[in-house]
Formats: sequence, structure tokens, C-alpha cells
Amino acid sequence: MNDIYILGIESSCDDTSAAVIKNGYLLSNITASQAVHKAYGGVVPELASRAHQQNIVPVVDQALKQAGITKEQLSAITVTLGPGLMGSLHVGVSFAKGLATSLDIPLIEANHLQGHILAHFILTEGEELRVPPFPYLCLMVSGGNSQIVKVNAYNDMELLGQTIDDAAGEAMDKCSKVMGFGYPGGPIIDKLARQGNPNAYTFAKPHIAGFDYSFSGLKTSFLYFLRDEIKKDPDFVEHHKEDLAASLEKTIVDILMKKLTQAVKETGITEVALSGGVSANTALREAFKTRQDNKQWTIYIPKFGYTTDNAAMIAITGYYKYLDKDFCPIDKPAYSRTTL
Ligand code: KG4
Repeated sequence: MNDIYILGIESSCDDTSAAVIKNGYLLSNITASQAVHKAYGGVVPELASRAHQQNIVPVVDQALKQAGITKEQLSAITVTLGPGLMGSLHVGVSFAKGLATSLDIPLIEANHLQGHILAHFILTEGEELRVPPFPYLCLMVSGGNSQIVKVNAYNDMELLGQTIDDAAGEAMDKCSKVMGFGYPGGPIIDKLARQGNPNAYTFAKPHIAGFDYSFSGLKTSFLYFLRDEIKKDPDFVEHHKEDLAASLEKTIVDILMKKLTQAVKETGITEVALSGGVSANTALREAFKTRQDNKQWTIYIPKFGYTTDNAAMIAITGYYKYLDKDFCPIDKPAYSRTTL
């Protein structure tokens, strides 16, 4: 049997990434992150597209070199078609379409969210990896999405619930911004929270039916609380930043875990995975570990390197679609919004 080489390309937000997978094993995963956004407290779409344009050729070139293959050896190219920033997506999608056409090999569509979920299946040759068995539940929490997904198979996922407004990562980033901290806020809040009291302050929690999430009420409650306290003490944030971070983080983790626990109860599925950028969060990982220590759930937490955006998760998504011969028409456009 011929070896299957899949090139994965990810450019949906502010990371340009390319990875090569051979027969399901990762050979390379190269990411160029964009520092240009730091000064603006969030991703600036136009700057992101321009940076992707500068990065895409060297990043793909390096991924192929590190994998020790030439582009002519590729079996297919997988690219994130969405969801994401339109301009950013277009850079990766146009490049992938051009390369697939010139090499006369199939193009495979990857949904960015499906990629985050399949990050648990990225493995290098010889590595013993504990992968979740199907069906399992996945809490997929990133900067743009918060979802509870029932994963039936690599290419069969059911959305049980999702945010109706802000995502968990977005709430961290926005609250970090109002406190005057940098971007992305999640890692900053995580670090500060380790020194703070998670029960120092109480913020609003949503009352939403079913498995859907909402974080906009929390964001507003946090904002109003700060506004009132700053009137009394202009340096309130500086004096209480650790407690603020810890209390905010606890509120977000409680909201996420409450719905997930409900989903475990209702589906009876106790194999539970965590994915997406926010899965790097210490308190959220601890909450998962507590469920495992209490013998309630069997948990699957991704490696740190695969929590944020990367092309390895896109390449592995493509690999399983390649095995299903699930190819993408060359004229299928990128999309900014979608669920799974
Ligand atoms: O998955 P990701 O890289 O991008 C999207 O696909 O959206 O997630 C980025 C999000 C940001 O909101 C960032 O603040 C958050 O993940 N994040 C964290 C941590 N590390 C990254 N949130 C909480 N704690 C962390 N340690």
C-alpha cells in the first residue's frame, strides 16, 4: 500500500500553520504566530490577513522540509475552510486550492472546530496515546466557540449545546481588556488566578435552558462591578488583580462544568474530553481531574501544544476524511460562521 501523506493548512485567525501527517502519524507542525495584534488588545482582521500572506509560503515550505518530503509526494491537502476570519481563511484556502490543483491531488475541507476536537488523535510514530473511545463527549472551548459535542466517530459529531453569545475564551479576553491587561487575556488571567482567592467576588451566572452557554451577562456584571469599585478606589484593579482573576476564572469554569455535568447525566456518556484554547486553563483542567479522581468520568485532556490553533489538528482531520474519500469541490468557498 502507498504511504498517505496529508498536508494540513490552518489560517482561520492569527496563526499561520502547516503540518504533515504520514499514515496518521505527525511528521511536522510549524506555526507562525502574529505578534502584531498585541498592541491592539485583540486580533485586527486586516493585519492578520496580511501576516498570513507573508507567512504561508515559508511555513508550508518548512513543514514539508521538516517532514523530509517534497510536495510531489503529497496525497491530499486539507485546509480550514471555516469558521474564522474571512480574510485570514482566504489566504490559506486560496493557497491550498492552488497547490492541490497544480499537483492534481484532492482538496479536503476541515472544519476548525472538528479539528480542535480531533486534536486528541494527533500522535507521532512510536508514541503511546490514550485516545477517547467513541462515543464520547467533548467540551470544545476556544476564543470564538464554547460547545458540548457528542463525538460518535472521527467524521460524525453532534452538537448538544453552544454559546448563544460570547465564548468562554472571549469572556476571558474581554474581561482582561477592561482590567487593562494584554491580549490574549486567558493565559494572563490563568497566571494571576493562581495567586488569588476564587471566592473573593461573585459574578452573574446565566440561566439558559438545555446545554447552551451564555457569557455576555457575566462580562457585563464584571464590567459594572469594576466600574463601581473603581469609583471608590481608582487603583482597585491593581490592588485586587489576583482575586479578580481567580473569581472570574472560577465563575467561567463553574458555568462550563455545570452544563457539561448535565450533558453527562442525560446522555449517560462518562468518557469526556476537553479541547480548544481554553483547555490550557489550569482551573478547568483541575475541575476535569476532580471528576476523574471522584471516579465520575474518564477524562481526556489534550497536550498543551495542541490546545491552541495548529495545523496538526487540521491534518489529522484530513487524514480521516481521506480514508473516507470525503473530498471537497475545488470551488467550495470559505465560510466565516458555522457550527459543526
Ligand atoms: O483555540 P484558540 O487558540 O483559538 C480559537 O480557535 O478561537 O483559543 C484562543 C483562546 C483565547 O480566548 C485565549 O484567551 C484562550 O484561548 N486561552 C486561555 C488560556 N490559554 C489560551 N484561556 C484560559 N486559560 C488559559 N491558560
